[in-house]
Amino acid sequence: MLIAGNWKMNGDPSSMDEFGRMIARAPEATARGVDLIVCPPAILIAKFVDRATVSKIGIGGQDCHAEPKGAHTGDISAEMLAACGATAVIVGHSERRTDHGETDEMVGKKALAAQRAGLTAIVCVGETEAERDAGEAEAVVGRQLAGSLPEGLDPARLVVAYEPVWAIGTGRTPSLDDIAAMHAFIRATLTARFPETPVQILYGGSVKPSNAAEILAVENVDGALVGGASLKADDYLGIALAA
Ligand code: G3P
Repeated sequence: MLIAGNWKMNGDPSSMDEFGRMIARAPEATARGVDLIVCPPAILIAKFVDRATVSKIGIGGQDCHAEPKGAHTGDISAEMLAACGATAVIVGHSERRTDHGETDEMVGKKALAAQRAGLTAIVCVGETEAERDAGEAEAVVGRQLAGSLPEGLDPARLVVAYEPVWAIGTGRTPSLDDIAAMHAFIRATLTARFPETPVQILYGGSVKPSNAAEILAVENVDGALVGGASLKADDYLGIALAA
């Protein structure tokens, strides 16, 4: 079970205190076999890695450029993340697909870049409310999986996160039956693609301590990708301990 925290564009050096509280409580979860990864803004990755050396919390990035270096002002390569001690990186989050026009092809190149640098790629997929209302959710997610998981990916360093766009930051979640159906669809797709190596499938979208136990108990849910609730140690561990 993996509980990953996506801090998004939140946090500054004063966040070290809250992260310190996460480190202090992390053994409560890791002792139960729950893996923890926190993905802070890039400006905090090195600080978090230094602070986390005494714990088993992994540190990840929230995006990476597809190239290892070069004239890409403002971008950060997967190699830079790895050099700072990150072990994973989120790619293709719906907020980046929207804000930065990231296509499935671009996400796939980022995923390959992440693995090129030795990172685990957490590849995000998910439909919009309009697509779900039109009955197109599985078709959309299937297209995203096909385009965002290019040839050459190592399933051993791949995680897929299903995040229905309409559930992100809204307090709304799909029904447990709908989560089960989509995760079963993603599992079947990944098993057909990588028959020898199981790939973890995380659910993301308004996961809170109050709903984590029932969501994490759904078949083919191997963990959660948590946004808002990952910013506070007690909420983040509350989710991890519900696993
Ligand atoms: O990447 C996780 C994020 O999109 C979910 O956000 O705030 O709904 O947990 P939130």
